[in-house]
Amino acid sequence: MNIVGNPTSAVEETLDPQDWEAVRRLGHRMVDDLVEQLSTVRQRPVWQRVPDPVRAALREPLPVHGQPLEHVYEEFRSRVRPYPTGNIHPRFWGWVMGTGTVTGALADLLAAGMNSSVSIFDDAPSLVEEQVTRWFVEAMGFPETASGLLVSGGSMANLVGLAVARNARAGHDVRAHGVGGTIFTLYASSETHNSVAKAVELLGLGREHLRKVAVDGDFRIDTGALATAIEADRAAGRRPLAVIANAGTVNTGAVDPLHALADLCAREGLWLHVDGAFGAMAALSPELRPRVAGIERADSLAFDLHKWAYAPLEVGCVLVRQADEHRAAFAAAADYLAAARGGLVARREKFSDMGVQLSRNFRSLKLWMMLKEHGFAKLGRLVAQNVAQARHLAALVDAQPALERVAPVPLNVVCFRYRGGLSEPAALDALNRELVVRLHESGIAAPSGTLVRGSYAVRAAITNHRSRRDDFRILVDACLDIGRELEKTT
Ligand SMILES: Cc1ncc(COP(=O)(O)O)c(C=O)c1O
Repeated sequence: MNIVGNPTSAVEETLDPQDWEAVRRLGHRMVDDLVEQLSTVRQRPVWQRVPDPVRAALREPLPVHGQPLEHVYEEFRSRVRPYPTGNIHPRFWGWVMGTGTVTGALADLLAAGMNSSVSIFDDAPSLVEEQVTRWFVEAMGFPETASGLLVSGGSMANLVGLAVARNARAGHDVRAHGVGGTIFTLYASSETHNSVAKAVELLGLGREHLRKVAVDGDFRIDTGALATAIEADRAAGRRPLAVIANAGTVNTGAVDPLHALADLCAREGLWLHVDGAFGAMAALSPELRPRVAGIERADSLAFDLHKWAYAPLEVGCVLVRQADEHRAAFAAAADYLAAARGGLVARREKFSDMGVQLSRNFRSLKLWMMLKEHGFAKLGRLVAQNVAQARHLAALVDAQPALERVAPVPLNVVCFRYRGGLSEPAALDALNRELVVRLHESGIAAPSGTLVRGSYAVRAAITNHRSRRDDFRILVDACLDIGRELEKTT
């Protein structure tokens, strides 16, 4: 049988190049440039504004006709590559964004080349994703019965986990009938990330039924207030459904008392979902694991891998303790997707039965390669290194009378502000807001800002494997310089 076919045709077009050798050469250059960009990243500013002429150039008319790839690549080199978000830089600590790795970048290239849809097919990419999620089931201390799915990030992982919670605990077939007239209530601390509220809205549960429970002095959920809220809802005829615990709150890195919450959920018959977007990674370090003790008791656990596992965007993971409950929330039959005796669709455990997407990219490859290259032990050490750096930064801040730390540092997030000789709250907020802008514009460092108990604070969330101790001194010096400058004009 001739399986090669006749590749020459005078009339048909393709997106393949005419000259594969030229693409090979250009591809090698792209890889060289990538290595150059990452290996020299420290020499450039953390961030710089896209200049106006470049902004204008990036608003072109529709390109009806094509041009050589070399030209397009040159444009990328001059107009796109110099102006990244900055989270590849050693002094980027804004929001919670991972650094990425060169292996991850190369793996994404390889994955795109295979262009697999990790969904219903009997192929190696499906086995790779299965392998990676099994590793995380084990690393997080989940039982064999658990299932895992890679998703775009923490927001999607929270949505998937809470969808399973709703369907498993509603007491009727929500997929068929909707939530109906029952008012289901959910509970999370006031420090919880807004993706949880988004998920509750999307699931038709109503944001006003997500109880924002008060926190203690360390920003951990007040379990007494939680128990009272549950009791009040039951007394009013509402149906408590789930508690959402934080393993690392977005603002300060606080970890809710997970064992106490697991006990409470067991007593009350509630689902325990843990948002461990970044904090779950503490479980990978033997030294830090006690700080997230109890995480293994969650019914569902959401965490990101593009944050504190340093993988390039986008990738997060959701684990569900009981795989059958996970599948029951999403499994959807379709004649054209039915499993066969053999061949391409011999697979019975479909990824599309565990989440929202049918077509899914091969995002597991970057993790598979990174984790095999470096190992979980090193990943745990890097997480612990970032926590030690956070302690170091906190000590540097505490040693400066002009600076003030505004929250404890249980993990990798340090919140502080310039105080100088000021005391008026509005002036302090305004100064520190401007300080963060000036820091970004200086290119020296990129923390972000947040409100801690209503006051504006500079916030460094350290999920960066390129940071070195010295980088934090540079941040503190810059905060002092800019703060003093601003204070003069306040
Ligand atoms: C605690 C927490 N949950 C959820 C998210 C959302 O994750 P993602 O941005 O990957 O969707 C974040 C992001 O910062 C987070 O810190």
